[in-house]
Amino acid sequence: MNKIKLNDKEFQISIHSDKIQSVVKHVANQISEDFRDKDVPVFLSILNGAFMFTADLFKYLSIDAYVTFVKFASYSGTTSSGKVKQLIGLNEDLEGRNVIVLEDIVDSGLTIKQLSRQLDSLNLKEYKIASFLHKPDACEEDIKIDYVGMEIPNDFIVGYGLDYDGLGRNYKDIYTLISE
Ligand code: IMP
Ligand code: MG
Repeated sequence: MNKIKLNDKEFQISIHSDKIQSVVKHVANQISEDFRDKDVPVFLSILNGAFMFTADLFKYLSIDAYVTFVKFASYSGTTSSGKVKQLIGLNEDLEGRNVIVLEDIVDSGLTIKQLSRQLDSLNLKEYKIASFLHKPDACEEDIKIDYVGMEIPNDFIVGYGLDYDGLGRNYKDIYTLISE
């Protein structure tokens, strides 16, 4: 399928699933190398968007790993609301552990910034951020992402966990909004 329609909007395919899988595999290999001789890391996945990236990345890891989840929401329709709501909080004791945050996409950077502030007070051993996608042109916050799968233009996308008003998360390819 080259085009999809979700509610009132049309989207055009922009990143194919074979490309997505090779990028995720590459990130998993990098993390596996970096953490092979360290304490087993805890992957902290940010729901909802990162569920698919997290599941695929986990299958490609060649080290032991823990996983836990938090849930944030900031988007409304096709734009960031500028506010981040925390819907499920941290319920794992992370003190003294190696933590790798997993995000589907860093856009304005607000979500990562808010989570970083919480993690700063927890006395972690090591803290890294891995994001499948990054929109460098949209990024307002000054944040360092340790593992970036791909950089993409500042367009609205869906698929591979990413949604438009809750729809589109189930596609294995990524689609870009066709501007009206
Ligand atoms: P940020 O806080 O602005 O960096 O964005 C955080 C969240 O907004 C991401 O984790 C996504 O879930 C969502 N988001 C950002 N850009 C897009 C997009 O193009 N399509 C769908 N969701 C997006
Ligand atoms: Mg997200």
